[in-house]
Amino acid sequence: MSSQIDHLLNETRRFSPPEEFAAQANATAELYDQARADREGFWAEQARALHWHTPFTQVLDWSNPPFAQWFADGELNVAYNCLDRHVEAGNGDRVALLWEGEPDGDSRAVTYAELTEEVKRLANVLLGLGVEPGDRIAIYMPMIPEAIAAMLASARIGAIHSVIFGGFSADSLRSRIDDAGAKIVITADGGYRKGRVSPLKPAVDMALADRNGSGPQESVEHVLVVKRTGNEVPWREDRDLWWHDVVPQASADHEAQPFPAENPLFILYTSGTTGKPKGILHTSGGYLTQAAFTNRVAHDIHPETDVFWCTADIGWVTGHTYVTYGPLANGATQVLYEGTPDTPHPGRWWEIIEKYGVTILYTAPTAIRSFMKLGRAIPKQFDLSSLRLLGSVGEPINPEAWMWYRKIIGGKTAPIIDTWWQTETGAMMVSALPGVTETKPGSAQVPLPGISVDVVDDDGVHVGNGNGGLLVIKEPWPSMLRGIWGDPERFKETYWEKFEKQGFYFAGDGARLDDDGDVWFLGRVDDVMNVSGHRLSTTEIESALVGNDAVAEAAVVGASDETTGQAVVAFVIIKESYLHEHSPEGLAGTLRAWVGEMIGPIARPRDVYIVGELPKTRSGKIMRRLLRDVAEGREVGDTTTLADTAVMSVISAQVK
Ligand code: WTA
Repeated sequence: MSSQIDHLLNETRRFSPPEEFAAQANATAELYDQARADREGFWAEQARALHWHTPFTQVLDWSNPPFAQWFADGELNVAYNCLDRHVEAGNGDRVALLWEGEPDGDSRAVTYAELTEEVKRLANVLLGLGVEPGDRIAIYMPMIPEAIAAMLASARIGAIHSVIFGGFSADSLRSRIDDAGAKIVITADGGYRKGRVSPLKPAVDMALADRNGSGPQESVEHVLVVKRTGNEVPWREDRDLWWHDVVPQASADHEAQPFPAENPLFILYTSGTTGKPKGILHTSGGYLTQAAFTNRVAHDIHPETDVFWCTADIGWVTGHTYVTYGPLANGATQVLYEGTPDTPHPGRWWEIIEKYGVTILYTAPTAIRSFMKLGRAIPKQFDLSSLRLLGSVGEPINPEAWMWYRKIIGGKTAPIIDTWWQTETGAMMVSALPGVTETKPGSAQVPLPGISVDVVDDDGVHVGNGNGGLLVIKEPWPSMLRGIWGDPERFKETYWEKFEKQGFYFAGDGARLDDDGDVWFLGRVDDVMNVSGHRLSTTEIESALVGNDAVAEAAVVGASDETTGQAVVAFVIIKESYLHEHSPEGLAGTLRAWVGEMIGPIARPRDVYIVGELPKTRSGKIMRRLLRDVAEGREVGDTTTLADTAVMSVISAQVK
């Protein structure tokens, strides 16, 4: 690992911002000076770019760390900021969403005026169903305009949305609905994925049912269903409503009410180091400020001329901040695509870019690497000359992928920003500013203006240039998480305890500073994996595995993978009785499918190895480091702390 990193840090290629780009860029180098001179004043100025029903007089209240309040005495309406104010400014005819369904020819342009009207109608429907400020609304939808409307309608009436990725199973859905105590579920009959209907409403029915001893779900009163795919769906008259039966009929008069800046906006569940996902809580004013600001200066959005495309699903934080909130707060025009990149043909993304003249593309390294594998001939068939800026998010981007992205997609001119952030940070934290920063392939580089990060050792001491350590955030920031839903203790423990003395936020990422002091991210330092830019917990998958009758014990590691960054690799001990009746190959296949059912297809292990024993320390802790060595085909490292030092050679032999 470390020799690999040294090699990375020897990267000498540098790319200056093209003059033409710099001349029109929203960001200038002065932003750094302004933020340095008066950090809070700087953020207050960014916040004033939003519409406040009641202007704030306080900026940051950090009197009760780690619980921050930003702009606390101000009041605003998040949906008003993303919709009404653009219509009132005379931009109602501007397209907000250029929606492209997966089936060919299925497309729709939605203007700001149309989206505003739809959100007002939906807000009235939700109010009619008894939704009150602070109530939770679960959203389990495909990438269709109604999904964006659902998020904004929830925000508009001061409710809290919890979007659950459409690829999650009924069980994952159930635990998230239960944890949040959602009153309403908004879903669709299904969505199109990989050329097929992927059913959603049936999963909602399963999630709400009394299954496997779960008992009936108790908090959900209504399920609102968009008809998208026309597949058969079970129906409960007393609970379920078709969107088309209620939304178009509802009144389009709805005046947005002001809510306090710290009113909760959404909960988003993400994997932590335990089996139980954490409900990351975000609030309104600070979150929207940083979402809009970063979209303006890092994505360099020019709402009058740009066509922005962030390829993330709304089930992830990237889809919240850079599909729904940032671009819409800025009044931008963006592409929303329902399907997978390779359906119905492997050039689908490039075709969409050509069709809509996309100017800014924001995507994940895993996507770039899979396109690289398919070869340049595919993107070369399309006119990508409209692209003027490229962005990357979700995991470290390796220099080869960065260079390919620049050359093949960006025509050797479009700057690339590598943006580091997390569900918890709410918006970008570390990124070049296009038009300002000289970029380096592979490094996320510098904190954004107003953000203060460092790389420190275990004692919280700055490591100095040329050294590695842990990434910390030193000062509160506007879009920071405000807590973990229902679990303030876990919030303190997970993020603040490690550097309590210094008051630093611990991100869980390893990082290194190069000789210029630029940050290079090295991946997670805890038991969280990053598979195709999606966070998965080793513990969560292990508990799914041991939930299968055949499994006695399981250990899961993230092994490096050429395409997905990391891949899930499971080592499993099977109960004696099952071993006699089933082949190892059969068992491995069954268990892969099982994890897919329990959590969702994204969590399905790439490999399942059936082993006789697992490497453990004398205190019984599984040594995942050694299993990672095996999974990555390396010489197994130091085994001296193992209770039984022979076990690794047995496992290595079994895996080969
Ligand atoms: C990783 C996604 C390196 C990191 C926005 C972080 C990155 C986790 C980058 C958060 C990047 C995200 N370079 N690593 N540019 N962006 N990560 O919550 O490990 O889904 O902690 O948020 O992804 O993942 P999450």
